[in-house]
Amino acid sequence: MSETFFVTTALPYANGPFHIGHIMEYIQADIWVRFERLQGRRVHFVGADDAHGAPIMLKAEAEHVSPEALVARIAAGRGRYLEGFHIGFDHWHSTHSSENTALSQDIYRRLKAAGLIYSKPIEQFFDPVKGMFLADRYIKGECPKCHAKDQYGDACEVCGSVYAPTELIEPYSALTGAQPVLRTSEHFFFRLSDPLCVEFLQEWLAVAGHVQPQVANKAREWLSGKAEQALGDWDISRDAPYFGIPIPDAPGKFFYVWLDAPIGYLAALKSYFDSGKARANGETRSFEAFLGAPDTRQVHFIGKDIIYFHTLFWPAMLHFAGAPYRAPDNVHVHGFITVSGEKMSKSRGTGISPLRYLELGMNPEWLRYYIAAKLNAAVEDLDFNPADFIARINSDLIGKYVNIASRAASFITRHFAGVLEYPSGTEELTLRARELLEQVRSSYAAREFGRAMREIMAFADRLNQEFDARQPWVLAKDPARREALQDSCARALYGFKTLTCLLAPVLPAVAERAARELFGLDRALTFADALAPPRRVNPYQHLMTRVDPKQLDALLEPQEKTVSETSAPPAPTPPAAIATDAPATISIDQFKQIDLRVARIAAAEQVAGADKLLRLTLDLGTETRTVFAGIKSAYDPAALVGRLTVMVANLAPRKMKFGVSEGMVLAASGPAGGPFLLTPDVGAAPGMRIS
Ligand code: 2FM
Ligand code: ZN
Repeated sequence: MSETFFVTTALPYANGPFHIGHIMEYIQADIWVRFERLQGRRVHFVGADDAHGAPIMLKAEAEHVSPEALVARIAAGRGRYLEGFHIGFDHWHSTHSSENTALSQDIYRRLKAAGLIYSKPIEQFFDPVKGMFLADRYIKGECPKCHAKDQYGDACEVCGSVYAPTELIEPYSALTGAQPVLRTSEHFFFRLSDPLCVEFLQEWLAVAGHVQPQVANKAREWLSGKAEQALGDWDISRDAPYFGIPIPDAPGKFFYVWLDAPIGYLAALKSYFDSGKARANGETRSFEAFLGAPDTRQVHFIGKDIIYFHTLFWPAMLHFAGAPYRAPDNVHVHGFITVSGEKMSKSRGTGISPLRYLELGMNPEWLRYYIAAKLNAAVEDLDFNPADFIARINSDLIGKYVNIASRAASFITRHFAGVLEYPSGTEELTLRARELLEQVRSSYAAREFGRAMREIMAFADRLNQEFDARQPWVLAKDPARREALQDSCARALYGFKTLTCLLAPVLPAVAERAARELFGLDRALTFADALAPPRRVNPYQHLMTRVDPKQLDALLEPQEKTVSETSAPPAPTPPAAIATDAPATISIDQFKQIDLRVARIAAAEQVAGADKLLRLTLDLGTETRTVFAGIKSAYDPAALVGRLTVMVANLAPRKMKFGVSEGMVLAASGPAGGPFLLTPDVGAAPGMRIS
């Protein structure tokens, strides 16, 4: 029996919509899945939301919703993107599911039985206000080396030194500003450093095809302990409160999100089997039988930032859990997407919004083709360059590919009532179609999509040249040369059909339309169709339009109005009572006119185009306010979320270029620096009046 594929992409965190990096990965995997299906393979392609972890828990809390509600809201938005870009997952699930709980607990129990789990007490910072242990990213303080303020708990962004959070000078909780205290708690560990584990991973990495060579090298560095992130045992537990899966027989302990996330691949597959969709897709075996079968090929597409988890923990977990679990057959790693050479930034609003792309009416298959044309099998970043995008689409897809059909089909419709004949025979044409098919097939199989596109376009060039050399527009005027006209158009259309089949993984909608509308095919295309000469064509209908450069301008324009540094709006005018040029004294009644409140920063975001402002969502206990604060130079928005501060709650709303500011937050500044946001003492709660 031939292999059946089980294909996944990295599970996206369920705390925000897809960004262009997700879409790129999904397009890559989707192209590969469609390619395998076109050559007759059975593929099960599943995805899921990665729902667990502290950031999602805290975000939900800030929004006053349950984590489940937050995750459900994000999940509800997924379909628009996936359908919009023709990404054909067979099933979409969630790591917050009964399947994932059962599978994670099962794998954990098996690892424990294999002697690979142990527990030991760990001393860790604890936020006494929030009542929770703090991950490194929620602890800030002064760098012990260069003394830069407000550095994260694991590394200094100023001098680059790496340290333990306990080494920070005057550490504080980024969630509440409270001084963290050291507390001990029992943690569970996966014995990754066990010689059996290390030996297994060395062997797994050595098998050609499991991972790309450069990925194997990186993983080996970790295994041998040479890299900065040297191999140790893996802390797989987190203490309550935590949004995650409970650890069996350990009250108050949850699996760390990265333990249950990859198991979510299997949970999605299980749910797909249980839903009956696997059966509808030709799979007759049970989930367990399929998972453990030697002819099942488990394939993961991931980004280069999560190699560590997928090439060490994940294969080891699966292998030592035992049958039916098996280590992955392929982990395909890709680079990041950059825009005009720059790393995209979600927070600055740069990069490309996939939703905006669709809303602008841009053709999703342009992006699929562009990505395919620039992808190879190496772990390289892919740059989205607008001028290059326009050139490739307009010259390759319109000028070379679509052009062949539009020109040749019109002669056949007008002069031959749609019937195709091959006066010079089809043998040589079939031979060259077969040669191209084999070439392109091996490029797709090797995930050398860029090479496949070059091979396809070289063939399209050849077809266009041959067509032009025969000058069919001249032949059409001479009834004596009818046969030559028929021959040149039929050859071109045969070539076009071959190209359509070979482009089908990348351009599924165009290929489907060309097959149905032009060639009258009433079933799905297969690669075998690339070799069958078409015998008739229907009148050509427009298949694809050119890219209008204006669409790209609109796509790349920052989402909010762009304002330069110099024209950035001033901070909201403070009330006269606290203006810097205020009289030396005010009455108590004047002071009482200012409604000062404790506010919790529920959300903090960059403002596209503003160099000084952050947009804060302030929770006043009974209501929330949006305030634009000129504190961008001093604060990382992520670190502000959850923190308490002081706001002027009765300041008249002020319309600014970026929206309406409904108050102001208080901050100190002076010759020594600033702004320094005010924080109330421990115990204050949102909405409390300050007097
Ligand atoms: O890095 C991420 O976005 C993770 N949510 C990926 C998880 S992949 C798998 F393990 F689920
Ligand atoms: Zn430093």
